[in-house]
Amino acid sequence: MALKLEFAPLSTPPKGVLVVFCDEGLKFGSATRQVLAETGDLVSRAAAAERFKGKSGATLDIVAPAGLEVSRLVVVGVGKIRDLKARDFVKLGGVAMGKIPSQAEAATIVADLPGGAPKPDAVAELALGVRLRAYRFDRYKTKRKEGEEKPSEVEVAIAVGNAAAVQKAYAARDAVANGVTFARDLVNEPANILYPEEFAQRAQSLKKLGVAVEVLDVAAMKKLGMNALLGVGQGSEHDSCSVIMRWNGGKKGTPPIAFIGKGVCFDTGGISIKPAGSMEDMKGDMAGAACVVGLMQTLAARKAKVNVVGAIGLVENSVDGKSQRPGDIVTSMSGQTIEVINTDAEGRLVLADVLHYVNTRFKPKFMVDLATLTGAIIIALGHEYAGLFSNDDRLAERLLKAGRATGEKLWRMPVGSEFDKQIESKFADMKNVGGRPAGSITAALILSRFVDKTPWAHLDIAGTGMGSPQNDTNKSWGSGFGVRLLDRLVADHYEK
Ligand code: BES
Ligand code: MN
Ligand code: ZN
Repeated sequence: MALKLEFAPLSTPPKGVLVVFCDEGLKFGSATRQVLAETGDLVSRAAAAERFKGKSGATLDIVAPAGLEVSRLVVVGVGKIRDLKARDFVKLGGVAMGKIPSQAEAATIVADLPGGAPKPDAVAELALGVRLRAYRFDRYKTKRKEGEEKPSEVEVAIAVGNAAAVQKAYAARDAVANGVTFARDLVNEPANILYPEEFAQRAQSLKKLGVAVEVLDVAAMKKLGMNALLGVGQGSEHDSCSVIMRWNGGKKGTPPIAFIGKGVCFDTGGISIKPAGSMEDMKGDMAGAACVVGLMQTLAARKAKVNVVGAIGLVENSVDGKSQRPGDIVTSMSGQTIEVINTDAEGRLVLADVLHYVNTRFKPKFMVDLATLTGAIIIALGHEYAGLFSNDDRLAERLLKAGRATGEKLWRMPVGSEFDKQIESKFADMKNVGGRPAGSITAALILSRFVDKTPWAHLDIAGTGMGSPQNDTNKSWGSGFGVRLLDRLVADHYEK
C-alpha cells in the first residue's frame, strides 16, 4: 500500500477513516471535540460496550458513525498524557496507521490531545510512526486475493493546528523514514537479486544526496591485503566488493565518525554448510550493511552537521570447489593471521578487514559496527534487544541511551581478554571460532582485535535485524534496525 502523507489544517473536513486520540478517562482535546460535535453520545456508548478505557495503544472502532461523513471512526487511547514521551508518539502513529484498512483511499488523523495540542516535534514523531507502519515489501506479489483490488494509494492527512511548524519539524523524520525504508527493502530483497555488486549499485544512489561513494573491487581489495574478507567470497559466482560512503557535513578536517556493516548477501555457511531449515533467512545476513546505507542516506538527506564514513563489506558465502576450507589460514589486512575452523563464522572475517581498513585510512573518532553475527545472541537476548559490545564506556552509554529513546534497545555484554584462551589457534594468531560457550562474546572479541585503540562498539543484530517480532511500527521481516538508533546517537552527541 502506497502512502501519501500530508499535514492539513484542523478545519479540513475528514475523509474516509477518521482517527482521533483520547486519554485514559476518555477525554478529548478541544479540536477533537469539535470534529466529533455531531456524534452525540456515540463514542461514550461504544466505549462502554467495548470496555474501552483509552489505555495507551488501545483502540475503539466504530463503522459508519452517525453524525460524521466518514466510513469509520477510530479512537486511539494514549494512556496518561503526562507519561507521554517522544517514543510514544511514534508508536501512536503506528497504531493509527494500523487501523487504516489497506483498501481505504483516504484517512484523517487528528493530531490533538486533551490539555492542548501536541508540540510540532511530537506530531512529527507521530508522522514517522505512520510512515514506518505503512511500509510494505510487495514488489514480488503479482496476484491479488480474490475480490481484493490492487492496493491503491492511501492519502493520509494529519490534521494539525500549525501545519507549517509541523512540516518543518517533520523534515528530519522524513529523512529517517526514508532511511529505514531503504534498509528494510535491502534486507527483504532475495539474494538472487541482491548480490554484492547489485548492493553496491544501490548504494551508489546516495551520490545524488552528495555522499561520496567508492567501490573497492576484488583487485583493489587484493592489493590492500583484505584476504580475510576475500576468503569468504572466493567460492561465489558473484564477486565480493566493499563500499565506502562519506558524508562531510561537519567542520572541514575534523576526524569522522564511522559505521561499518556486515554485508553477507547470502550465508550458506560455506563448506561448514548450514542445515536446510530456515536457511532462506540468510538472505538477510546483510542487515548490518543495509542499516549503514540507510543511515548514510538519512544523515545526508537531513544534512547532518557531521563528518561520517559508512563502510560495508559485501560477499556471498557459498559452497563450491573454490570455497575456502576449514583449516585454511588467512592473513588479514592488519597482518594478523586467522585459522578458519568453521567457514560459517564468516562475518567476523569480513568485518576484521573492513574495520582495519576504516581505522587506518580515516582514523575515526569512533567506530560502530552492525552485524547479524551470531545465532548465540538470539539465545542470549531473544528478539527485543541487540547485543552491545564495546571497549569504551562513554560510547556504550550513549548507545544505550539512544536505544532507550528510540525503542531500538541494546543490552551490553562483556568483551575482554578473559576470553582470549577460547580463540587460541594451534597454527595461527587466532582461530575464527571459540566453541559453544559465550559464542557472541568470542565473536566480538575477534572483532576487537582489529580496531586497535579506537573507541569501538559492535552491535550484534542477528535477533533484531530480521524476523524480529513485529510491533506497532514494524510489520516487515527486515526491520531496518539501527537506522533510528544511530541517527539519534549522531543527532544527540556528534553534530555541532
Ligand atoms: N549469519 C550467521 C548468524 C545468524 C544466525 C544470523 C541466525 C541470524 C540468524 C553467522 O554467520 C553464523 O553462521 N554464525 C555461526 C557462528 C558459529 C559457526 C561459531 C552461528 O551463530 O551459529
Ligand atoms: Mn555464517
Ligand atoms: Zn553470517
